[in-house]
Amino acid sequence: MSAPSLEVDLADLRTAASTCTSCGLCERRTHVVFGEGNPASPLVLVGEGPGDEEDKTGRPFVGRAGKLLDQALLDNGLTREHVYICNTVKCRAADWSTGKPVNRAPTDSETLACRQWLIPQLAAISPEVILCIGAPSAKNLIKKDFKITVERGRYFASDYSKTILATLHPAYILRQMNISGDGGYSLLVGDIAKAWEAAQRLREKRAMAPLMVAETQLGFEL
Ligand code: URA
Ligand code: SF4
Repeated sequence: MSAPSLEVDLADLRTAASTCTSCGLCERRTHVVFGEGNPASPLVLVGEGPGDEEDKTGRPFVGRAGKLLDQALLDNGLTREHVYICNTVKCRAADWSTGKPVNRAPTDSETLACRQWLIPQLAAISPEVILCIGAPSAKNLIKKDFKITVERGRYFASDYSKTILATLHPAYILRQMNISGDGGYSLLVGDIAKAWEAAQRLREKRAMAPLMVAETQLGFEL
């Protein structure tokens, strides 16, 4: 039996993206970090972009921030096998002006260039819910003027899923943790819970839809 078209689409996209030179981030990258996890999941997490560890390994969220994200998933009884994880840009964005790379947010033009991969990726997966991890992802997929501290945890309309919401980035939480309390970690855990519950509810509804149509048709014919 041939592989489901979803996996074929994603594999083709991954291969095509692996040689992309559409923006300047291609110049210093080691790996294009396409994404991984369960492509059949009802929930996709979209981060900002690869850091040092991710660039080295080719895998999303494997550095310090990634470990905190894993913990937040685990606190909800979830692993990476339950969700799909990818990023706004697929190559590392860093400032190299001091000789030592310092991670930075992707620019608007880098973000725009990389939508050629992200949008078809989301279309192939067709999740019920997208959870944007951090402000750059929310500005890309929800609205340009998204205010992460005010608007995180709220549902928005989406062209790429049934609904979309955003949460704090674990790298931001790690920085805040040094200053006070849990740095917003409990908000991250709560937003993942909210996103996962909605994703499951919406997926159940989708699974029921053909049955409901069949019943209606049956009723009509009788
Ligand atoms: N931060 C991100 O936004 N994405 C990663 O893959 C790693 C760190
Ligand atoms: Fe291509 Fe995206 Fe990498 Fe830019 S960041 S080179 S658009 S894959």
